[in-house]
Amino acid sequence: MIKNFINLMDFSADQLRELLRQAADDKRRFQTGTLEPTLLHKTLAMIFEKPSLRTRVSFETGMSQLGGHAIYLAPADIGLGTREPVQDVARVIGRMCDGIMARTFSHDTVLGLAQFSPVPVINALSDHSHPCQAMADLQTVVEFLPECNDPADLTGRTLLFVGDGNNVARSLAVACSKLGMRMILAAPEGYELSDSFLAELPDPDAFALTRDPLDAAKEADVIYTDTWVSMGQEQEKEKRVEDFRGFQVNTELLSRAPSHVVVLHCLPAYRGYEITDDAFEAHAASILEEAENRLHFQRTLLNVLLGQGGIE
Ligand code: CP
Ligand code: NVA
Repeated sequence: MIKNFINLMDFSADQLRELLRQAADDKRRFQTGTLEPTLLHKTLAMIFEKPSLRTRVSFETGMSQLGGHAIYLAPADIGLGTREPVQDVARVIGRMCDGIMARTFSHDTVLGLAQFSPVPVINALSDHSHPCQAMADLQTVVEFLPECNDPADLTGRTLLFVGDGNNVARSLAVACSKLGMRMILAAPEGYELSDSFLAELPDPDAFALTRDPLDAAKEADVIYTDTWVSMGQEQEKEKRVEDFRGFQVNTELLSRAPSHVVVLHCLPAYRGYEITDDAFEAHAASILEEAENRLHFQRTLLNVLLGQGGIE
């Protein structure tokens, strides 16, 4: 039984597929108004060191839809690691709440919370990874790709990530590798995924790096992008905008892709930088469904971790 949800590496392909299947079932229950209040009187503490729209709203809404409650702890509220050490925060929350969701700068902070917390800890984005995002993304791919009706059908498909080898790219690389997908990262020099990280992937051969996103688009079933400037990197904006020129999802790039291509963006999107307005709007249906799927995947995750004691 795995108690926490911190790194997709911790889970087998079968466990990830099963979570995706449960999330799809759960979404159907949501759509037919038949969700059960399985987390009645349970409380999730949500620790945020960074801003959020989707993550906060989806976790808080998910808890309320299951009959539970969520407490939003803003960056200045608890002073994680400054006003109070991580181990004390984890142990105190663990005596009052049933789970901890954390969005942190350092991945070590999430690991520290997990080490000391008696209740489940969920990684809701660290500088290392964003596993909830990658799972909602693959849920969306299953919904949008032709002849793809189950997570098992993802095998052999290709996801092209255009942009920074960042937290989101890292979680997608693990998810793709576990589920039999190929991932191509189109990134400029200096923004790749590290060799040591890639060596840990279950199937390192299923990952490729290119400097030529236009050429790679021809093979893409999914085209994905994320901001060039992640939270905490604002002081590097000028350099990054210069370095990422040519690594944009735009009409020209999309014209090279197969007609069935599914375009995704974890959001927030910076139009005119990593994606153009017309490319975004042409694919708003999949991008917004992806955002909605954060709610459905995470509600499933909350049910499993807080309601059923963990992932079997
Ligand atoms: N994609 C995502 O995590 O969005 P927020 O930063 O708004 O939570
Ligand atoms: N890579 C982005 C993702 C935002 C959801 C960041 O870390 O800011």
